[in-house]
This record gives sequence, structure tokens and C-alpha cells, in this order.
Amino acid sequence: MTAGTVERYSLIDCQPPRQDTVQEVLVGLSRTPKHLSPKLLYDADGSALFDAITRQPEYYLTRAELSILSGIGTDLESLVDSDAVIVELGSGSGEKTRHLLGMLPTAPAYVAVDISATALDGALDSLADEFPGRRFIGMVADYLAPVALPPEIEDRPKLYVFFGSTLGNFEPPEAIEFLHRMALSLDPDDALMIGIDLKKAHARIHQAYNDASGVTAAFNCNILNRINRDCGANFDLEDFHHEAEYQPEHGRVAMFLVCHRTHTVNVAGVEILFDAGERVTTEYSYKYSMDEFYALARQAGFSPVRSWTDSGETFSLHYLAPDLA
Ligand code: AVJ
Repeated sequence: MTAGTVERYSLIDCQPPRQDTVQEVLVGLSRTPKHLSPKLLYDADGSALFDAITRQPEYYLTRAELSILSGIGTDLESLVDSDAVIVELGSGSGEKTRHLLGMLPTAPAYVAVDISATALDGALDSLADEFPGRRFIGMVADYLAPVALPPEIEDRPKLYVFFGSTLGNFEPPEAIEFLHRMALSLDPDDALMIGIDLKKAHARIHQAYNDASGVTAAFNCNILNRINRDCGANFDLEDFHHEAEYQPEHGRVAMFLVCHRTHTVNVAGVEILFDAGERVTTEYSYKYSMDEFYALARQAGFSPVRSWTDSGETFSLHYLAPDLA
């Protein structure tokens, strides 16, 4: 930002210390099977690659969610308090936010929580231009750790939004725990709008995570670049390849980095052995049926108020009220 420019949004840095990331990586790589947290996928390059994934013809999720959003304006206006503040978890590029802010013209403020500072900057910069007169706050944070909102925001009714089926990254018990924690922290006039990818023909899901242009593969492999940089590791990207498979018995896509040859990698001073053929899990993306998701939401302490799907029933949006408040 150039000198003299009026700040149109504020950025609050609640990033976990780098040492935590190193620790988490080492713990994940010391387990059998090895795994890495999907949040590591979202450095600046990873966020840009994810954005490119959302434009691939095979990746139906984002288009389906946007098509649902574009049809629910009147429903939303009647559900959401006119002075509700919007708090978005994992806001990414902000494209869905643009629709939401357009549909809720009286929402006085928008808070975006994202793990990627560059994604936040880019999104808030253009949103603040497009919607003058509203307050924009970005929080660089892992939304897994409960986020303390600024007090003047905390006192207002809040609409939390969690788009993109990001909840699917959690295994179901963790998803319930995450939602439960949220339900406990919400006030009676708060609500949660959440996007959930639906179960469907396996081939279609498989293709969404194996796009022909190889963007998902680049996104997955980039996690090793990120670890090399942030954890002082010496992964050679030539030694690994992308694999993603739909596992119907679990109702999830599992994404892996598969190692080609037996060798050791130095990660923050620790030698870690990788066997030929060994798979490192980098992400799960759970898919739900409508009924499965309702059951999960209820178990977590939410009441489903309204749900919407696209015409092909590929994706769903749910407006949930906390029933513990
Ligand atoms: C942003 C976590 C919802 O699981 O579909 C896209 C990330 N991974 N392609 C998903 C992702 C591979 C995405 N989420």
C-alpha cells in the first residue's frame, strides 16, 4: 500500500508461530501412515493453485455452490438479521463473498478469517473497493483455533459462513467436535451458513480431484515446496507424485503424495525415511448425503433451518441455528 492511501480494511495477524508448523510437520511425518495437515497446502502459491482448481471443468464444487448462492437472495434476506455482521472462515479469493455481500446490502461489516495472508489481502482489497461504506476486517488465523473477534463485532448478531465444503477436510468425529465448539460459542441470534459437497457418482468425484490439466497435482505437490521453505527441508518434488482416490467405504476423497524410491529426507534437522510406494496423506474431502449432514449438524448442536441444493443436487448449502444457545 502506498503512503497516504487510506486503509480500507484492517488485517489482524493471529498466525501460529512457525515453530508450531515445524512441530506439526514432524509429528505427522513420524506417524504410520505419514500425513500432512491440509492447511499446509495454502501458502501464497497453494492459494493461487486452489483458485485455479476452482476454474477447472472437472471441479464442479465451486460452480455448483455459486449457482446455489445466486438463487437464494430473497430467502437469505428474510433469514438474516439486517444488522448482522458476516464472519467468513476460510474466505480464500472472496468470490463467493462478493455474491453474499451483494445479497445482504445492510450487513455493516465483514470479517474474513483465512490462513493465507496474501489471499486475504487480495480478497479484501477488491471487496473494499466494490462495497464502500462497510467495514472490512481480515484475520490471518487458523480457524481451528477459536478466533477472538474484535469486541465491537462480538456484540452484534453474526452470520458465520463456511463455504466450499471445507468442513469435509475433517474426519466426521472432528467435524462434529468443530461444529459443536462453534455451536457453544454462538449467541441465540447468530447463525451458520455452511457449504457441503454431496455424495454422487464416484467417477465424477474422482475426476474433480484428478483434473486433466494437472492443476490439482501441482496444488498437492506444492505442499513439499512449502515445507522445504518453512521447515528447512530438502524434499525433491521429482521423488513424489499426486494421487487422489474416492474411497466409497469412507465417503471421502483421500489425497496422497506417493514416493517413487526409498530415500531419506531431512526435515528441520531430522532424517525421515520414505519407502518406495509409500503414501503420505495430505487431505481428506468427505462427502455427505443430505440426511447424513443433518444428523451430523444435530449431533453437533445445530438445528437445520433451511437447505438448498443446485439443480443437479451435486452440492448443498445449509443455514443452521445453534440449538444450545
Ligand atoms: C477447499 C478443502 C474444499 O476438498 O475439495 C481441491 C480442496 N483439494 N482439490 C476440497 C481441494 C483438492 C477443497 N477444499
